[in-house]
Amino acid sequence: MKRVKYVIANWKMNGNLASLSLVRHINNHLRKNEVKSPKVIICPPFTLLGTFAAVKSMNLTFGAQNIHKLDHGAYTGEISSSMVKDVKAKYVIIGHSERRSYQNEDVNELREKILIALNQKLKVIFCIGETHDQIKKRKSILQNQLKSLPKNFSHKNIIVAYEPVWAIGTGLTPTISEIDKIHSNIRNMLTKYVGKNSDKISILYGGSVNSKNASEILYLKNVDGALVGGASLNAREFCKIIDS
Ligand code: PGA
Repeated sequence: MKRVKYVIANWKMNGNLASLSLVRHINNHLRKNEVKSPKVIICPPFTLLGTFAAVKSMNLTFGAQNIHKLDHGAYTGEISSSMVKDVKAKYVIIGHSERRSYQNEDVNELREKILIALNQKLKVIFCIGETHDQIKKRKSILQNQLKSLPKNFSHKNIIVAYEPVWAIGTGLTPTISEIDKIHSNIRNMLTKYVGKNSDKISILYGGSVNSKNASEILYLKNVDGALVGGASLNAREFCKIIDS
């Protein structure tokens, strides 16, 4: 089964207007090398999203790192999916472990966020992953997290990113064979959960991906791309990951 491949940058709370040069560097790389696959998506902070997404002739796409579960109202400091859509961003990350832990986002809230994002025709990058303490019960943790997904969604609108929490920003990763096995388990869970067309859903790996380990990870049959944090803030490093 041929699935769409992605390399996605999650800038987290990093970057400023001058970071447009980083975006241009990556874009020039994609253009010069006529990169058609993977699809490259950059998720900068909200302050940069509209500015970046308005730049003409980009070979890459932009996404938000979060949205509120409602569309508008008296929620000081929040950003809605229609606002993200309004500035021409196409994707949104939902369920990142940093938001699950620091903002206490749970299965139900994440489901509401996914539904409103899909309603606004944003594509969702949905993150799941176990903490170090949960490794032994990983399967049930992931199964439970997947319950935020609506049944019968189209594989074109949702990308799943498996990110073990203990691998994020730590330099640690599961072994290659573990990643392979976990991704195949996730696919089986998706098949049970969403049924039809679940084999077309792209499942990305995230957590300490860098230019050195990317080719080994991305070579795996069950891995359809990478969600990259730290290494996406360095244009040369990120381009090497794309080339992997
Ligand atoms: P990292 O972050 O690549 O810095 O580990 C990944 C993520 O949080 O998405």
